[in-house]
Amino acid sequence: MERTFIAIKPDGVQRGAEDCLELGFKLVGIKVVVPSKDFAQKHYHDLKERPFFNGSCDFLSSGPVIAMVWEGEGVIRYGRKLIGATDRQKSEHGTIRGDLAVVVGRNIIHGSNGPVTAKDEINLWFKPQELVSYTTNAEKWIYGDN
Ligand code: GTP
Ligand code: MG
Repeated sequence: MERTFIAIKPDGVQRGAEDCLELGFKLVGIKVVVPSKDFAQKHYHDLKERPFFNGSCDFLSSGPVIAMVWEGEGVIRYGRKLIGATDRQKSEHGTIRGDLAVVVGRNIIHGSNGPVTAKDEINLWFKPQELVSYTTNAEKWIYGDN
C-alpha cells in the first residue's frame, strides 16, 4: 500500500500544529525526534545547491520534529494538498501552511512530494521495525471488497 512521510517541523510543534492533522488515512509510524544538522542535510540533500539549504537544515534541527508515516491509496498527493504550497503566499486557506505559515522558511510541516522521495524519506527517518502493519475495522467501508 502507498505510504508517505509527513513531519511537523519545529515551528509546527511549538505552535501545536499536530492538531491540524486529520488525514483520514492510516498512521503506521510516529516518533518525536530532534534531528542532528547532519541528518537534516541528508533529508534536504536535493536542495544542497540552493541558497537557503544551510538555513533550512539549521531550522529542521532546531527542535523536536514529529515524524510520521501515513498509509493509504493516494496518500502522497492527499498529504501535499492538505499541507498546501511551499510558499504561504501561494497556499490556499484551508491548507495547513495557508492557515498557519507566515514566511516560506518556517512552513510548519513537510510532506513527501512523490513516490520516490516518499520511499527515500521513510527509509531515512524510520527503521522497518518502527513501522506497523495493521487492519482497521473501517477499511472495508473505505475501500470496499476489492
Ligand atoms: P518540504 O515539504 O519541506 O520539502 O517543502 P516543499 O516540498 O514544499 O518545498 P522544497 O522541497 O522545494 O523546499 C524545502 C524547504 O525549503 C521548504 O519547506 C522551505 O522550508 C525551504 N524553502 C524552499 N524555498 C525557499 C525559499 O525560497 N527561501 C527559504 N528561506 N526557504 C525556502
Ligand atoms: Mg520538498
